[in-house]
Amino acid sequence: MLRTIIITVSLVAATALWAHSGVKDPQVKARMDGMDVLAEQTKILGQMAKGATEFDAAKVQSALAVMADEADQVQALFEPKADDPKSEALPTIWTEWDKFAMHADDLVAAIAVADGSSAAALGQTLRGIGGACGACHKDYRQKN
Ligand code: HEC
Repeated sequence: MLRTIIITVSLVAATALWAHSGVKDPQVKARMDGMDVLAEQTKILGQMAKGATEFDAAKVQSALAVMADEADQVQALFEPKADDPKSEALPTIWTEWDKFAMHADDLVAAIAVADGSSAAALGQTLRGIGGACGACHKDYRQKN
């Protein structure tokens, strides 16, 4: 029984490692995972804002709370100058750290003023949040 559990757990861990198709550096993987959490929550909120899923104020608040937590981690996740062949992070992040950090602060600020009281308010909020994501990506994420 215990053996089965251990095998299952290591399989799950291995699957998680493959999720970013071949990313080997653990620090790069951690920052990508953080970005994926942001994207996931943004998607949940976006669906509600456009009425594709039912508006649920409690779900909005919990998604925003997860995003606020994750946004707080961005600087710490990127501080180590880690690299990986799969990374899309531009090296200027570490030569222009203050500017990068400012983009991270902008995201924190956009989430802090989020208004999730209605689908319409949420749509407006997402424009602000999306703007903060896009501004940083424009400067510091390699375009494919
Ligand atoms: C302070 C800068 C910054 C902000 C703000 C930011 N990102 Fe990113 N994001 C990056 C960088 C840099 C990468 C590339 C990381 C890498 O490949 O090593 C990235 C990568 C990603 C990825 C790809 C992750 C992967 O699995 O490869 C997604 C998805 C993403 N960001 C979504 C978001 C969303 C959604 C937001 C806003 C809610 C956001 N990001 C805000 C800098 C930022």
